[in-house]
Amino acid sequence: MASPHNSAEIGDIAERVLLPGDPVRAKVIAKNFLSDVKQYTEVRNMYGFTGKYKGVPVSIQATGMGIPSFSIYVHELIHVYGAKKLIRIGTCGGMHKDLNLRDVLIAQGVSTDSSIVEKTFGGAINFSLLADFDLLSKAVTNAKKLKIPAKVGNVICTDRFYNDYNDKDGVFSANGQTLNEKMIQHGILAVEMESAALYLLAAEAQVQGLAIFTVSDHVVKKEYTTAEEREKDFNDMVKIALETVIQE
Ligand code: HPA
Repeated sequence: MASPHNSAEIGDIAERVLLPGDPVRAKVIAKNFLSDVKQYTEVRNMYGFTGKYKGVPVSIQATGMGIPSFSIYVHELIHVYGAKKLIRIGTCGGMHKDLNLRDVLIAQGVSTDSSIVEKTFGGAINFSLLADFDLLSKAVTNAKKLKIPAKVGNVICTDRFYNDYNDKDGVFSANGQTLNEKMIQHGILAVEMESAALYLLAAEAQVQGLAIFTVSDHVVKKEYTTAEEREKDFNDMVKIALETVIQE
Protein backbone atom coordinates (compact mmCIF):
# COMPACT_ATOMS: atom_id res chain seq x y z
CA MET A 1 0.00 0.00 0.00
CA ALA A 2 1.61 3.21 -1.20
CA SER A 3 -0.33 5.67 0.95
CA PRO A 4 -2.20 5.56 4.25
CA HIS A 5 -5.69 6.01 2.78
CA ASN A 6 -5.43 4.43 -0.65
CA SER A 7 -4.39 0.86 -1.52
CA ALA A 8 -3.44 1.71 -5.13
CA GLU A 9 0.09 0.89 -6.24
CA ILE A 10 2.09 3.61 -7.94
CA GLY A 11 1.02 3.61 -11.58
CA ASP A 12 -2.55 2.38 -10.85
CA ILE A 13 -3.97 5.91 -10.88
CA ALA A 14 -4.11 8.07 -14.02
CA GLU A 15 -2.75 11.62 -14.20
CA ARG A 16 -6.33 12.68 -15.03
CA VAL A 17 -8.75 12.25 -12.13
CA LEU A 18 -12.40 13.05 -11.49
CA LEU A 19 -13.36 13.59 -7.86
CA PRO A 20 -16.92 12.84 -6.74
CA GLY A 21 -17.61 12.95 -2.99
CA ASP A 22 -19.75 9.82 -2.94
CA PRO A 23 -18.08 6.40 -3.42
CA VAL A 24 -21.24 4.89 -4.90
CA ARG A 25 -21.37 7.66 -7.47
CA ALA A 26 -17.71 6.98 -8.29
CA LYS A 27 -18.63 3.36 -9.02
CA VAL A 28 -21.66 4.29 -11.16
CA ILE A 29 -19.65 6.82 -13.18
CA ALA A 30 -16.81 4.33 -13.77
CA LYS A 31 -19.31 1.67 -14.87
CA ASN A 32 -21.38 3.94 -17.13
CA PHE A 33 -18.69 6.11 -18.72
CA LEU A 34 -15.36 4.24 -18.75
CA SER A 35 -14.09 1.10 -20.49
CA ASP A 36 -11.48 -1.39 -19.15
CA VAL A 37 -12.31 -0.42 -15.56
CA LYS A 38 -10.18 -1.62 -12.65
CA GLN A 39 -10.92 -0.80 -9.02
CA TYR A 40 -7.67 0.12 -7.25
CA THR A 41 -8.85 0.89 -3.72
CA GLU A 42 -11.65 0.19 -1.27
CA VAL A 43 -9.93 1.47 1.87
CA ARG A 44 -12.68 2.96 4.10
CA ASN A 45 -15.07 2.20 1.22
CA MET A 46 -13.72 5.32 -0.45
CA TYR A 47 -13.61 3.63 -3.86
CA GLY A 48 -11.25 4.51 -6.69
CA PHE A 49 -11.32 3.24 -10.28
CA THR A 50 -9.15 3.63 -13.35
CA GLY A 51 -10.49 3.06 -16.85
CA LYS A 52 -10.45 4.65 -20.28
CA TYR A 53 -12.58 7.43 -21.72
CA LYS A 54 -12.24 7.68 -25.51
CA GLY A 55 -9.00 5.70 -25.16
CA VAL A 56 -7.44 8.00 -22.54
CA PRO A 57 -6.74 6.68 -19.00
CA VAL A 58 -8.91 8.44 -16.42
CA SER A 59 -9.37 7.70 -12.70
CA ILE A 60 -12.43 8.36 -10.59
CA GLN A 61 -11.57 8.75 -6.89
CA ALA A 62 -14.21 9.32 -4.20
CA THR A 63 -13.20 11.88 -1.58
CA GLY A 64 -15.91 12.01 1.09
CA MET A 65 -17.45 15.29 2.15
CA GLY A 66 -15.80 18.48 3.41
CA ILE A 67 -12.36 20.01 3.17
CA PRO A 68 -10.50 17.69 5.62
CA SER A 69 -11.59 14.40 4.01
CA PHE A 70 -11.20 15.78 0.49
CA SER A 71 -7.71 17.15 1.25
CA ILE A 72 -6.37 13.78 2.39
CA TYR A 73 -7.33 12.00 -0.84
CA VAL A 74 -6.26 14.86 -3.10
CA HIS A 75 -2.91 15.35 -1.35
CA GLU A 76 -2.10 11.67 -1.83
CA LEU A 77 -3.33 11.69 -5.45
CA ILE A 78 -1.00 14.56 -6.26
CA HIS A 79 2.04 13.83 -4.12
CA VAL A 80 2.07 10.01 -4.04
CA TYR A 81 0.40 9.03 -7.32
CA GLY A 82 1.32 11.93 -9.60
CA ALA A 83 -2.15 13.28 -10.50
CA LYS A 84 -1.88 16.35 -12.75
CA LYS A 85 -5.41 17.26 -13.85
CA LEU A 86 -8.04 17.05 -11.12
CA ILE A 87 -11.71 17.88 -11.63
CA ARG A 88 -14.14 17.81 -8.73
CA ILE A 89 -17.66 16.78 -9.71
CA GLY A 90 -20.17 17.39 -6.97
CA THR A 91 -23.38 18.97 -5.85
CA CYS A 92 -23.87 22.50 -4.58
CA GLY A 93 -26.61 24.54 -2.96
CA GLY A 94 -27.78 27.37 -5.21
CA MET A 95 -27.79 30.83 -3.65
CA HIS A 96 -28.24 33.29 -6.54
CA LYS A 97 -31.81 33.69 -7.78
CA ASP A 98 -30.83 32.90 -11.38
CA LEU A 99 -29.70 29.39 -10.41
CA ASN A 100 -32.23 26.58 -10.57
CA LEU A 101 -32.20 22.95 -9.47
CA ARG A 102 -30.13 20.74 -11.82
CA ASP A 103 -28.21 23.66 -13.35
CA VAL A 104 -24.53 23.04 -13.99
CA LEU A 105 -22.10 25.51 -12.46
CA ILE A 106 -18.37 25.83 -13.10
CA ALA A 107 -16.35 27.46 -10.30
CA GLN A 108 -14.13 30.20 -11.71
CA GLY A 109 -13.16 31.17 -8.17
CA VAL A 110 -13.84 30.04 -4.62
CA SER A 111 -14.34 32.04 -1.44
CA THR A 112 -14.26 30.25 1.90
CA ASP A 113 -15.03 30.54 5.60
CA SER A 114 -12.53 27.74 6.27
CA SER A 115 -9.22 28.66 7.91
CA ILE A 116 -7.29 26.55 5.38
CA VAL A 117 -6.15 29.59 3.35
CA GLU A 118 -5.36 31.77 6.36
CA LYS A 119 -3.32 28.97 7.96
CA THR A 120 -1.37 28.35 4.76
CA PHE A 121 -0.27 31.98 4.46
CA GLY A 122 -0.05 32.70 8.19
CA GLY A 123 -2.81 35.29 7.78
CA ALA A 124 -0.49 37.58 5.81
CA ILE A 125 -2.67 37.68 2.68
CA ASN A 126 -6.14 36.64 1.50
CA PHE A 127 -5.06 34.31 -1.31
CA SER A 128 -7.44 34.13 -4.31
CA LEU A 129 -8.58 30.59 -4.99
CA LEU A 130 -8.84 30.27 -8.78
CA ALA A 131 -9.70 27.54 -11.23
CA ASP A 132 -6.92 26.49 -13.57
CA PHE A 133 -7.61 28.73 -16.57
CA ASP A 134 -6.85 26.06 -19.17
CA LEU A 135 -9.31 23.58 -17.64
CA LEU A 136 -11.86 26.35 -17.04
CA SER A 137 -11.84 27.59 -20.62
CA LYS A 138 -11.97 24.04 -21.99
CA ALA A 139 -14.89 23.17 -19.71
CA VAL A 140 -16.84 26.26 -20.81
CA THR A 141 -16.23 25.40 -24.49
CA ASN A 142 -17.13 21.73 -23.96
CA ALA A 143 -20.38 22.67 -22.18
CA LYS A 144 -21.32 24.82 -25.21
CA LYS A 145 -20.43 22.00 -27.63
CA LEU A 146 -22.55 19.57 -25.61
CA LYS A 147 -25.39 22.17 -25.52
CA ILE A 148 -25.40 22.06 -21.73
CA PRO A 149 -26.10 25.54 -20.34
CA ALA A 150 -23.48 26.10 -17.63
CA LYS A 151 -23.08 29.10 -15.36
CA VAL A 152 -19.58 30.25 -14.42
CA GLY A 153 -18.58 32.25 -11.34
CA ASN A 154 -17.68 32.41 -7.68
CA VAL A 155 -18.80 29.90 -5.04
CA ILE A 156 -18.53 29.84 -1.25
CA CYS A 157 -16.86 26.79 0.25
CA THR A 158 -18.06 26.35 3.84
CA ASP A 159 -17.07 24.19 6.79
CA ARG A 160 -20.67 23.76 7.99
CA PHE A 161 -23.47 22.21 5.95
CA TYR A 162 -26.04 23.10 8.60
CA ASN A 163 -25.52 26.76 9.37
CA ASP A 164 -28.39 29.08 10.36
CA TYR A 165 -26.08 31.94 11.21
CA ASN A 166 -25.53 32.93 7.59
CA ASP A 167 -29.27 33.61 7.30
CA LYS A 168 -29.61 35.61 10.52
CA ASP A 169 -30.15 39.37 10.39
CA GLY A 170 -27.09 41.47 11.04
CA VAL A 171 -25.00 38.72 12.61
CA PHE A 172 -22.00 39.30 10.40
CA SER A 173 -22.81 42.38 8.41
CA ALA A 174 -22.63 46.04 9.36
CA ASN A 175 -25.48 47.23 7.17
CA GLY A 176 -28.26 44.86 8.18
CA GLN A 177 -27.76 42.31 5.43
CA THR A 178 -27.38 38.67 6.36
CA LEU A 179 -24.10 37.09 5.35
CA ASN A 180 -25.89 35.13 2.62
CA GLU A 181 -27.41 38.34 1.22
CA LYS A 182 -24.03 40.02 1.29
CA MET A 183 -22.37 37.13 -0.54
CA ILE A 184 -25.14 36.97 -3.16
CA GLN A 185 -24.84 40.73 -3.68
CA HIS A 186 -21.16 40.17 -4.43
CA GLY A 187 -21.94 37.56 -7.07
CA ILE A 188 -21.50 34.35 -5.12
CA LEU A 189 -23.66 31.85 -6.92
CA ALA A 190 -23.68 28.75 -4.72
CA VAL A 191 -22.43 26.98 -1.60
CA GLU A 192 -20.41 23.77 -1.37
CA MET A 193 -17.77 22.25 0.88
CA GLU A 194 -14.61 21.06 -0.92
CA SER A 195 -13.37 23.21 -3.76
CA ALA A 196 -11.32 25.66 -1.65
CA ALA A 197 -9.06 22.71 -0.85
CA LEU A 198 -8.82 21.69 -4.51
CA TYR A 199 -7.83 25.16 -5.70
CA LEU A 200 -5.37 25.64 -2.84
CA LEU A 201 -3.70 22.21 -3.08
CA ALA A 202 -3.51 22.46 -6.88
CA ALA A 203 -1.88 25.91 -6.69
CA GLU A 204 0.56 24.70 -4.04
CA ALA A 205 1.62 21.69 -6.15
CA GLN A 206 1.37 23.52 -9.51
CA VAL A 207 -1.10 21.06 -10.97
CA GLN A 208 -4.44 21.79 -12.64
CA GLY A 209 -7.70 21.91 -10.64
CA LEU A 210 -11.31 22.66 -11.57
CA ALA A 211 -14.64 22.22 -9.79
CA ILE A 212 -17.93 21.60 -11.60
CA PHE A 213 -21.26 21.27 -9.78
CA THR A 214 -24.85 20.31 -10.25
CA VAL A 215 -27.31 22.35 -8.18
CA SER A 216 -28.94 19.79 -5.84
CA ASP A 217 -30.80 22.26 -3.64
CA HIS A 218 -31.43 25.98 -3.41
CA VAL A 219 -30.71 27.47 -0.01
CA VAL A 220 -32.71 30.67 -0.60
CA LYS A 221 -35.63 29.28 -2.60
CA LYS A 222 -35.73 26.26 -0.23
CA GLU A 223 -35.97 23.73 -3.07
CA TYR A 224 -34.47 20.23 -2.98
CA THR A 225 -33.90 17.26 -5.26
CA THR A 226 -34.27 13.67 -4.10
CA ALA A 227 -31.30 11.28 -3.96
CA GLU A 228 -32.71 9.51 -7.06
CA GLU A 229 -32.98 12.75 -9.03
CA ARG A 230 -29.42 13.68 -8.08
CA GLU A 231 -28.16 10.40 -9.52
CA LYS A 232 -29.82 11.17 -12.86
CA ASP A 233 -28.90 14.85 -12.96
CA PHE A 234 -25.22 14.10 -12.56
CA ASN A 235 -24.64 13.00 -16.15
CA ASP A 236 -24.36 16.44 -17.81
CA MET A 237 -21.64 17.49 -15.38
CA VAL A 238 -19.77 14.19 -15.81
CA LYS A 239 -19.76 14.58 -19.61
CA ILE A 240 -18.28 18.09 -19.38
CA ALA A 241 -15.67 16.89 -16.86
CA LEU A 242 -14.61 13.85 -18.90
CA GLU A 243 -14.36 15.76 -22.19
CA THR A 244 -12.30 18.42 -20.41
CA VAL A 245 -9.95 16.15 -18.46
CA ILE A 246 -8.88 14.13 -21.52
CA GLN A 247 -8.05 17.15 -23.69
CA GLU A 248 -4.39 18.00 -24.28
N1 HPA B 1 -24.57 23.51 1.43
C1 HPA B 1 -23.30 23.10 1.41
N2 HPA B 1 -22.85 22.19 0.57
C2 HPA B 1 -23.74 21.67 -0.30
C3 HPA B 1 -25.07 22.06 -0.33
C4 HPA B 1 -25.50 23.04 0.58
O1 HPA B 1 -26.68 23.43 0.60
N3 HPA B 1 -25.69 21.34 -1.29
C5 HPA B 1 -24.76 20.54 -1.84
N4 HPA B 1 -23.56 20.73 -1.25
